[in-house]
Amino acid sequence: MPGPDRAQGKQGETEMQEERKPGGYTADASAAPTLEDLKRMVLQEAGGQAFYQALAETTDNADIKRLLGRTANEELSHAHRVQEVIQRLHGQAMAIPDHADNPYAKVPADLAVTRPLLEMIVAEELKGEVLYEGWAAHVDDAEAASLLRRNGTEERRHAERAQDILKLAGL
Ligand SMILES: [Fe+2]
Ligand SMILES: [Fe+2]
Repeated sequence: MPGPDRAQGKQGETEMQEERKPGGYTADASAAPTLEDLKRMVLQEAGGQAFYQALAETTDNADIKRLLGRTANEELSHAHRVQEVIQRLHGQAMAIPDHADNPYAKVPADLAVTRPLLEMIVAEELKGEVLYEGWAAHVDDAEAASLLRRNGTEERRHAERAQDILKLAGL
């Protein structure tokens, strides 16, 4: 999932913000993803890793730290799978930029394990699952569909994990 919707593009920022749907996903789950959708998703997934890693660093609770760290690692795996989908569907290689060069990897300074944030995470992750499932249903390449579905399944697990964290944190 992408972190909170704080991405700041250097160019076309206004247009991007305007077209952005609530929750940070701009893509259409009822159609095959465009190349642009997939490239943005690579950035969002890599940004998700930055977000979860930063959130893990805000807590001293070892169990919560471990769960957030696991999700962070999986977000990076998602970026790699989408890279593979781009290669399969479009024959293009796309590098994952460093976080400093990724507009979706800007982490809020006031990040903390709170109920509102975790509830936002649950909602975002479930939206991610819907998006990946929708994309998987609309691509012709079976391996690409499988990669997208794997990401979708893990996004649901991330939502469930965030609910576990709510309990662990006593929130
Ligand atoms: Fe996720
Ligand atoms: Fe993800």
